[in-house]
Amino acid sequence: MYTTMLQLLLRTLGSAAVIALLVACCADATGDTKPVAPLSGGAAGVVDTLYQTSEAPPSELTGYRRWWSSLWPVASPINLPEADDRKMHYGYTEYNGPATWSLEYPICGGNHQSPVDLSSNRMLRASGTPLRWSAAYWHTPDNMTLMNSGHTVELHANWGAEGAPQLSGGPLRAPYTFWQMHFHWGTSDNHGSEHTINNASFPMEVHAVHYKSEYGSPRNALRYPDGLAVVGFLFQMSPDASSSLTNITPSLPQVRSAGSSSRIPPVPLATIINPPRAYATYQGSLTTPPCSEGVTWMVSGYSMSVSTEQLAAFRSLASHDGSMGDNFRPVQPLNGREIFYVSQSS
Ligand SMILES: *[C@@H]1O[C@H](CO)[C@@H](O)[C@H](O)[C@H]1NC(C)=O
Ligand SMILES: *[C@@H]1O[C@H](CO)[C@@H](O)[C@H](O)[C@H]1NC(C)=O
Repeated sequence: MYTTMLQLLLRTLGSAAVIALLVACCADATGDTKPVAPLSGGAAGVVDTLYQTSEAPPSELTGYRRWWSSLWPVASPINLPEADDRKMHYGYTEYNGPATWSLEYPICGGNHQSPVDLSSNRMLRASGTPLRWSAAYWHTPDNMTLMNSGHTVELHANWGAEGAPQLSGGPLRAPYTFWQMHFHWGTSDNHGSEHTINNASFPMEVHAVHYKSEYGSPRNALRYPDGLAVVGFLFQMSPDASSSLTNITPSLPQVRSAGSSSRIPPVPLATIINPPRAYATYQGSLTTPPCSEGVTWMVSGYSMSVSTEQLAAFRSLASHDGSMGDNFRPVQPLNGREIFYVSQSS
């Protein structure tokens, strides 16, 4: 039967067209829909197995082409409610926690919310251009500030004339500029991260938030369905202090109280986070009110490490509601969204 179809095709299309079809078919089937493989190796002796797999993804889904075509919403501005002072003071307690957010911030009840569980058996392997980190990531900013927002601790910096570091490539269709970095952590070591991997939580997660450069400012970018890109890293406990955090944790006591901020000695962002060599990417939202959607997430497949003492410094901060910790939102339903897994060979 296939032979007859082939002969028919050959007669109608000519052999070149059929060969092209066959090549397209098989390149797709073998190259792009493989299950996510376990990771091995890694920089500085970090052997990471954050993403592992068992089953093959549904075969009708193809990685590469769908990745580029399906991820991106249409970029027209939308009206977003702002997280302003007239609204409830959101937090993580029984009274103002994640289950209540959508009362004041309707988008928090949306269909494309973050975080999500990154189930390796649902991930599709995707390929494309590498994610590019601009040189400014390796340059020392003019000044750097730590800020206790009452919900988390944020890191901001200024790079002067050079401009802030930018991300481009990978799933991003335009450059995105660094805005701020912040952390989510638990009051005990078995939870604290926002994203989970195969339902497993991690003690801490850091988010490097970027806004689409052409929108000029984070505030303006929030109005667009392609306004933000966030790179997330999960932490695992380590007996040794993590060098990534040694520039931050000694300054945390200066921002103990909610609303306080402090200058800290500036360091390049690349001393804190490094370009992930493998990551999961999907379309989601901010994980705090107003829960704006249109966030391209990239969650590293390689974890960072944190020691008990370093985590204690985070846990000693004060929030609006008492001590800061367990400032993570539970995972949200995927609602049909796809998660793509990208492994970059260096
Ligand atoms: C921080 O650096 C920026 C330039 O990158 C400068 O405009 C600003 O005045 C600096 N802030 C302070 C308080 O020095
Ligand atoms: C994660 O939890 C959900 C809901 O309880 C369950 O349906 C799913 O099978 C779990 N996934 C894994 C990988 O254990």
